[in-house]
Amino acid sequence: MDRYLVFGHPVRHSKSPFIHTLFARQTQQELEYGLAEPAIDEFAHALRTFFDQGGKGCNVTVPFKEQAFTLVDRLSPRAKRAGAVNTIKLTDDGVLLGDNTDGAGLVADLKSHGVTLADSRILLLGAGGAARGALAPLLAELPSELVIANRTHTKAQQLAAEFCDLGPVTAQTYEQLAGPFDLVINSTSASLQGELPPLAPALIHTDIAIYDMMYGASDTAFISWAKQHGARQTMDGLGMLVEQAAEAFTVWRGIRPGTKQVLRELKRNLGVI
Ligand code: ATR
Repeated sequence: MDRYLVFGHPVRHSKSPFIHTLFARQTQQELEYGLAEPAIDEFAHALRTFFDQGGKGCNVTVPFKEQAFTLVDRLSPRAKRAGAVNTIKLTDDGVLLGDNTDGAGLVADLKSHGVTLADSRILLLGAGGAARGALAPLLAELPSELVIANRTHTKAQQLAAEFCDLGPVTAQTYEQLAGPFDLVINSTSASLQGELPPLAPALIHTDIAIYDMMYGASDTAFISWAKQHGARQTMDGLGMLVEQAAEAFTVWRGIRPGTKQVLRELKRNLGVI
């Protein structure tokens, strides 16, 4: 049977096996999908061993995405832009192809929530790996403006300079930000510590769409905060998780699974509904 897995550390709580098993069932593909948690300095070896032993493909998550970028034989254009690899496929001619489906997953999830990206003003919070992966797919949707704000302003400036050939992207400090924005995407890891990015409440209005790439069994700190200040449409990163997985599954198997039912099952599994 074709073997796939996700590499991460820690990875025990990963939902990827659950999601891909449902995708396989739905599309009647015969495959198995497992977990691998190599020591931080043993990822390269573990990856090689997996493919030497007949593995067909894998996902890569924190903290190995940047390392995976350096270990594959060939990179997709979107992985090259993202500077990170979350999906690897062994091609029929034995080449390890590195791809990145995170940004496509974000855009697909935003669209499935009915968020309009074309001609919109988007504020992206954070300038780490998650922001980098989102930039090219967001700019491809032709927003009128995309502003990056980050605690460490120089990182936002670097990112804006790197992507300005793709569209109207600029960097501003949190203090400089002037609304109205149509969509705010939180790519910071602040919610992990229950912290908030230092965003002025005045930027939140009833018609704004709020997206937090993090998710949990209850609202993230950022989503709770945005709701308190009047945001009516809030979304967490669970849909993005399912959509990036669907994109990876399509890369591996050449067949696109449906995501709606799987997202519902995942929410049930997490106790969200
Ligand atoms: P990831 O790969 O998830 O993007 P990362 O590359 O470590 O993780 O980046 C984390 C991002 O969250 C950074 O933009 C970080 O800001 P700095 O560049 O200033 O470190 C941001 N971040 C983390 N905690 C934050 C907080 N409490 N407030 C604001 N931004 C925060």
